[in-house]
Amino acid sequence: MKALNYGSLNIDFVYNVEHFVRSGETISSQNMAIFAGGKGLNQSVALAKSGIDTWHAGNIGEDGEFLAEILQKAGAHTDFITRLPGRNGHAIIQKQPNGQNCILLYGGSNRQNTKIQVDEVLSHFEKGDYLILQNEINEIAYIMERAHEKGMMIVLNPSPMDEEIFTYPLEYVDYFLLNEIEAKDLTGLGDSVGEVRGIETDELLDAVCSHFPNSKVVLTLGEYGSIYKDEKQKIHQPIVKVPVVDTTAAGDTFTGFFIGSIAKGLSPKEAMQMAAKASAIAVSRQGAAPSIPELKEVYDFGG
Ligand code: RIB
Repeated sequence: MKALNYGSLNIDFVYNVEHFVRSGETISSQNMAIFAGGKGLNQSVALAKSGIDTWHAGNIGEDGEFLAEILQKAGAHTDFITRLPGRNGHAIIQKQPNGQNCILLYGGSNRQNTKIQVDEVLSHFEKGDYLILQNEINEIAYIMERAHEKGMMIVLNPSPMDEEIFTYPLEYVDYFLLNEIEAKDLTGLGDSVGEVRGIETDELLDAVCSHFPNSKVVLTLGEYGSIYKDEKQKIHQPIVKVPVVDTTAAGDTFTGFFIGSIAKGLSPKEAMQMAAKASAIAVSRQGAAPSIPELKEVYDFGG
């Protein structure tokens, strides 16, 4: 059994700021750093480190060669990464002292996937293999159609959320991993449920599950933890409290370790615990991909 993550690879330009820049405002940053990132790359690093055989598919531009090296170092296969002329995808990230961030994306090479590439990549995978997707590349609907025909398990992290998501064959998704805003948008509940906390959180999760009755769902709630639901059970997983340094790859680390653990045969409860511990370690460190822990660190971590 293999995991194929068809996703973005970004160069993250991270600027430390006192507060996010406002409309019409110009501010100075205290410092800046460049990291490997992209929801796709981050999740591949986390998948590979969780111990599952991971293949990353996607494109890098002329300035993105180091991204493939980082994936290889993490233990992911890079045979399905295509080199393209032109700029790599990148992200401009503002980071506040409390670790919160806001992100501006440039798609670049991430938006240049072709159906021919997709067919070639998927020819190496079979029924039961896992396909992991986020929403930072083009041709997602086509990838899902072809993967479904093959009987692959489809995992979707619908992030960043946009209108195009509603054109995807969402009924094929076996696992959704999403936050409360994405859940509200996907179910059409908009702001009608107000602050999604306590009992309302469960209502929101139930709404996602009734929209997608064939899917298992993980709803992530930041500092309020996460909830898993399938047809038999609901599992509430609190966060593991740590000093927050940088939240950038928290969600990606959670997704990679959760799916990696499930694919390795752990129970949903065990997978939720592994994911919570791995993402706690990630938020206690700087950067996206560099903050993602090794499997041994996760096992050794308390909480
Ligand atoms: O989820 C975090 C990632 O989102 C960053 O690494 C950035 O590249 C954006 O894609």
